[in-house]
Amino acid sequence: MRTQVGIVGGGPAGLTLALLLERQGIECVVLESRSREYVERRVRAGLLEHNTVSLLHELGVGDRMGREGLRHGGIYLRRQCRTTHIPITKLTGRHITIYGQQEVVKDEIAAWCERGGALHFEVPDVAVGDLESDRPVIEFTLEGSHERLECDFIAGCDGFHGICRAALPDGLAVHYDYEYPFGWLGILADAAPATDELIYAWHERGFALYTMRSSTISRLYIQVPAGERLEKWSDARIWQELQIRLASEGWSVNEGPILEKGITPMRTFVCEPMQFGNLFLLGDAAHIVPPTGAKGLNLAVNDARLFAEALSSFYTSGSRSALDAFTETALRRVWRAQDFSNYMTQLLHDLGRGPFDRMLQLSRLDYLGQSTAAAHSLAENYAGLPAAPDF
Ligand code: FAD
Ligand code: DHB
Repeated sequence: MRTQVGIVGGGPAGLTLALLLERQGIECVVLESRSREYVERRVRAGLLEHNTVSLLHELGVGDRMGREGLRHGGIYLRRQCRTTHIPITKLTGRHITIYGQQEVVKDEIAAWCERGGALHFEVPDVAVGDLESDRPVIEFTLEGSHERLECDFIAGCDGFHGICRAALPDGLAVHYDYEYPFGWLGILADAAPATDELIYAWHERGFALYTMRSSTISRLYIQVPAGERLEKWSDARIWQELQIRLASEGWSVNEGPILEKGITPMRTFVCEPMQFGNLFLLGDAAHIVPPTGAKGLNLAVNDARLFAEALSSFYTSGSRSALDAFTETALRRVWRAQDFSNYMTQLLHDLGRGPFDRMLQLSRLDYLGQSTAAAHSLAENYAGLPAAPDF
């Protein structure tokens, strides 16, 4: 088997890349280890930046998002029953859209299949090799038989636990990483959101986030200690904690049946370089941000955009210069998102460092309510900086 670009992983990075390449007439094959049903149901991110929304529309996969996505013009920051509104659209002219990651994935898979794209699900034993040659290879098992896919390039879009990053030679990459001493317990509930926009709440007991998926489905998160066991959190205890941390005078969180719950560890990670020979890493395969800035999915889509541009330049002009600069170009945005995600995390979570740090956090939250300059800085990072590599 032979293709131009072999894509390992059918998440947002891999699928967006496939759709971008198809538009440029570059052939590719997507290999996904999980079933279609599994990837279409995996509940994860929900907040799309302005740039991400525009790109999905350009790719012709934005119709349902346009109808069902919730377009927001700001966010709330809450602490000690006081709420500050950050008017993102007023400050930046840009919007954010709430639309579940699994809905993006569903729309992308449907469009890719409808356009006749090659996508194989439930592909085990994926391995990559000959990365420095001009014929790198992906080996895998398909319906019981061993296959070899020769490519010009391999895109490692296989997430944080995938095999592609591990294929970089020992000692080549620097890993910048940090694991926070807490995680997020997230729920999806059959309850109408009691808020029109997202609420990020600071509380002595820990952070809470009120977000949503539709006018009838709420998504909520609370900070829990690292390594926390889900069994310790009955539905009643989760609601009680959410009511305390999100409290505001004369208002409460709308409760309802919990449809899904899970705990995510909180880490920050960057692999540099994001490439070796003709293997390129995109999205979570190369970097993880703490979710407080809502950047992970948006970075994955942006990596796909940059890599597709570099490939297009290679196939039209024969020049490798954009491909050679991929790490540098992508990491500029990644580090901006790292800084913002870590800033939001440290602004809002119980960092376990005692009263001095808590007072600094409260002062910063006050400042965001008082100063348009401070609010503007948060707003432009949250909505996503413009797409040009020089920002
Ligand atoms: P993934 O979505 O992980 O996709 C990788 C794919 O590769 C998967 O389908 C996997 O099955 C497949 N794969 C793995 N190994 C192999 C293999 N060996 N062979 C073939 N296929 C393989 N981001 C935001 O932007 N906004 C948010 O609001 C937000 N909130 C989040 C909330 C939570 C609770 C979590 C957990 C994450 C959140 N994120 C958010 C982050 C976001 O979900 C990820 O950054 C995003 O999924 C990255 O996309 P990706 O395509 O790089 O990787
Ligand atoms: C969502 C998740 C986030 O991490 C975030 O910062 C905002 C929204 C969400 O799941 O909707």
